[in-house]
Amino acid sequence: MHQDIEKVLIDEGIIQKRLDVLAGKVVEDFEGKPMVVVALLKGAVLFTADLLRRVALPMQIEFLNVASYHGGTESSGVVSFLDETLPDVEGKVVLLLDDILDTGRTLEAVMKKLEQQGACEVKTCVLLAKDIEREVVKEADYTGFMIGDEFVVGYGLDYQGLYRNLPYVGVLKDSAV
Ligand code: IMP
Ligand code: MG
Repeated sequence: MHQDIEKVLIDEGIIQKRLDVLAGKVVEDFEGKPMVVVALLKGAVLFTADLLRRVALPMQIEFLNVASYHGGTESSGVVSFLDETLPDVEGKVVLLLDDILDTGRTLEAVMKKLEQQGACEVKTCVLLAKDIEREVVKEADYTGFMIGDEFVVGYGLDYQGLYRNLPYVGVLKDSAV
């Protein structure tokens, strides 16, 4: 285990097994539809790669660079779009992937944007969702795991840019924050 990790919340084997189930649901729902995956950088990178290799459907894969967290452990609530051009989703069914659903503001802002770009439907899929009251995006269409209201890292999730490459989701030691 990494020296800065206090405890592993969800281990690698459990994540991978859960992805089999999520991928099965995605295949069922998207089969026969013009599908575009939009994954949010950078947090959704590991999740996206592992999930999509299990989804044997024709699809276009796009990444969107958005920032909503500005370094600390609290969501700022302000979502900025960092790309110069947005993916072409006109007339497509979009599967929007992110690492975690926290306040819901990120997914809310991106869903709105994709709908403005002409997507006919946007379904949301997150590896993790925090078990808290949300005003926007109360839940995702597909959720890997519900977790408590604590700050986690690993499997794509970072603290100040670090820990994304850990194959598990864990909680940082106080000494690392
Ligand atoms: P939301 O807009 O509050 O739902 O926040 C979503 C974004 O905040 C995610 O894409 C993550 O980048 C970041 N985030 C929220 N909670 C955590 C966490 O526990 N660890 C790391 N990043 C987090
Ligand atoms: Mg982040």
